[in-house]
This record gives sequence, structure tokens and C-alpha cells, in this order.
Amino acid sequence: MSVTRVELAGRSYEVRVDSGLLADVATQCGPLLRKKAVPIITDSNVAEHWRQEVASSLGAAGHEAHFLVLDPGEAAKSWTVLEKVCNWLLAEEVERGDHILALGGGVIGDLTGFAAAILKRGCGFVQLPTTLLAQVDSSVGGKTAINTRAGKNLIGSFHQPSLVLADLDSLATLPPREMGAGYAEVIKYGILGDADFFAWCEANGAKVMAGDKAALEYAVTESVKAKARIVAEDERETTGKRALLNLGHTFGHALEAETGFSPKLLHGEAVALGMVLAARYSARKGYISEEDAARVAAAIAGAGLPSEISALGLECSGKELAAHMLHDKKMDAGTLPFVLLHAVGDAFLDKQVELNDVAEFLAEQL
Ligand code: NAD
Ligand code: GLY
Repeated sequence: MSVTRVELAGRSYEVRVDSGLLADVATQCGPLLRKKAVPIITDSNVAEHWRQEVASSLGAAGHEAHFLVLDPGEAAKSWTVLEKVCNWLLAEEVERGDHILALGGGVIGDLTGFAAAILKRGCGFVQLPTTLLAQVDSSVGGKTAINTRAGKNLIGSFHQPSLVLADLDSLATLPPREMGAGYAEVIKYGILGDADFFAWCEANGAKVMAGDKAALEYAVTESVKAKARIVAEDERETTGKRALLNLGHTFGHALEAETGFSPKLLHGEAVALGMVLAARYSARKGYISEEDAARVAAAIAGAGLPSEISALGLECSGKELAAHMLHDKKMDAGTLPFVLLHAVGDAFLDKQVELNDVAEFLAEQL
């Protein structure tokens, strides 16, 4: 098992990565579970495969697993479902000192985390991430949120979990496309801050995607370490350090908006293509070489992720694509900071990017 501590004054917690953690969840959580009844929020896909595992572990330790099973998908991150979750938790008589278990991907983690943040002015929760994306990104760092008609993740809070248990076994039931979407976030840590890890990804990406346990444990652990370092330095995204995690997200957001935030392009796939575009745009600006940009594209394509906009068959202009960026929630006092590259493994925040120039660049890519 690897154990990484997210160091935050008064709110530090462990991220444990191993096989068999869900089957051992009662022992892993230990004194965090104060009562016989343990409230667990999950979705029906995850419940189908992992509910029994969790219920058995809790039952063997004298607890009773109480599940709220939601419909899967991004639509769960809504006011309506948040209200349902909060009402259920109140009916379960959850108190401030209790812990709610979030068993699922980023949707369940973000929603449960936000419910925990506001229930009785804040109670505890444990992240049990079951997608690769959730294990390497969303379960660590305390960002919780729901979506509104105005956009994704616009209502939320920073609320750190008390513990994260990333069970590698749970990834065995994950659809391959979801695995790819999570792997994009793994490669991201290499591209933005660790050239050696990027080189490891180039050599071992296929093994990770095939579910090789040793490769997965290394990939998840290194990603968690990278995220924990960044979160410890800039928990609330105020210094620019945490904003580097948005590498690929500004270009990706435009692609997601153009494809209607639909299953045509999963968020992680958009980020993957967005990172290729950020690398190519960095080369266009003379920050990195064309060879380095090609290396990023090859690593993304090698993992079976989209690396060319032309393959999406979009019917829009570069200008229309760039216009979506104006609605990006990363807009800051009229400017849109772009995460670009000084080198593979060295990202920086560029606040001087001209949207017209980005539109011209995108037109060449379409
Ligand atoms: P998700 O939670 O929707 O999971 C993807 C799909 O896989 C769903 O259909 C789910 O039911 C299914 N699934 C989950 N685990 C499974 C398993 N082990 N076996 C079989 N099926 C399984 O999506 P996601 O990609 O995990 O997360 C995306 C969400 O995360 C978005 O809402 C995004 O905004 C959020 N996010 C948050 C942060 C953060 O820092 N809080 C970071 C990145 C993304
Ligand atoms: N996923 C971006 C962040 O946690 O800051």
C-alpha cells in the first residue's frame, strides 16, 4: 500500500492506494465510523459491482451499511439531487462528528463532499473513489461542487475529506473509455511538472490502460503525490500553483462546450486533446520545440485518447471555438489565464494570451 499525506494545517489526511481497500473499508476507516449505521452515497453502476464488498466489510465489523443509490451521470450534480441527498442524510440523523462515505467517481465525490460541507454547517466524509479520474484527481484536494444552468461546478466549497481510499481493484469494472479519461489526468501531472514521470508514462501507458496492477499503483500514487504537493502549497487556488492543474482545461472546455458537454467527448478526453493543443500553442509561441509538442501528442494518441480536433468533425470556425472560452469559469477580471509550457514537465500560467491569436491557431487545427 502507498500512503500519501495531504498536509494542510489542522486538516491533514491520508490518501491510501492499494488493492482490496473496499473489502477492508471498516478497518481502514476505524474510529471515523462512530455509530452502527454508516451512510453511503453511491450510484447504481458502482452499487452493482461494489455495494456488497463494502456492506460485507462493514457488517463484519458490527456496522450496518445504509446506502443511498443515485442515478449515474453528471446530472446528479444538481440542486434537486443535492436536496434529496441532504434530506436523506438528515433522516439518517447524521451528526457533525459523523462521516459519510462517498463511493463512486468524481460525480458522487463532488456531490457528497458538497452535501457534507453544508450539512449541519459541515460534517465529515471519506472519499472511496472508484474511477481512475477520481483516484488521481477529484477525490484529493477538497474541491466539491454541483452544476447549475449557468455552468459546471459553479456552486460549491472547499471541504477536505478525512480520508481517501483508492482501491485499485475497483478499476477492473470501469469501462475502457472512462479508464482513458482518467489516464489523461495521470499524464497531465507529468506534462505540467515532472518530465521523468512523463517519460515513465510514455513507456508504461499501455500497461496502465491494460490494468496492470503494479503500473496502476505507481501511476495512481505518483499522481496523488503530485496533487497533494500542489494542494498543500495552494489549497484555495490563490497563488497560481493549483491553477496549473488546469493544463488542457481551457482548450478542453471550448471543445466540451462545442460538443454540448455530451458523451461525444468525455471531460478527460477533452482535457487530453486540450493538452495537445496547449503544447502546440506553446510551440507556436516559441516556448517549446515542435518536437516536444509532437511528443505530447504522441503520448496522448498512444493511450488511445483523441489528439486531433479534425477527428471530432466539428462544424465551427476557430473564432466560434475560441468564443466558448469567454464563458470559462477561469476568467479573471476580463483576462483568461492559459496554462502553457516552458518545457515538457514545466508548465506556467500565461495571462497575456490574445483570444484572436488563439482563434487563428484553432482555425489551423480544425
Ligand atoms: P463519474 O463519476 O460520472 O463516473 C464515470 C462513469 O463510471 C459513471 O457512469 C459511473 O457510474 C461509472 N463508474 C464509476 N466507478 C465505476 C466502477 N468502478 N465500475 C463501473 N462503473 C463505474 O465521472 P468521473 O470521470 O469519475 O468524474 C467526473 C466528475 O468529476 C465531473 O463532475 C467533474 O467536474 C468532477 N471533477 C472534480 C474534480 C475536483 O477536484 N473535485 C476534479 C476533476 C473532475
Ligand atoms: N482538478 C483541479 C483541482 O483540483 O484543482
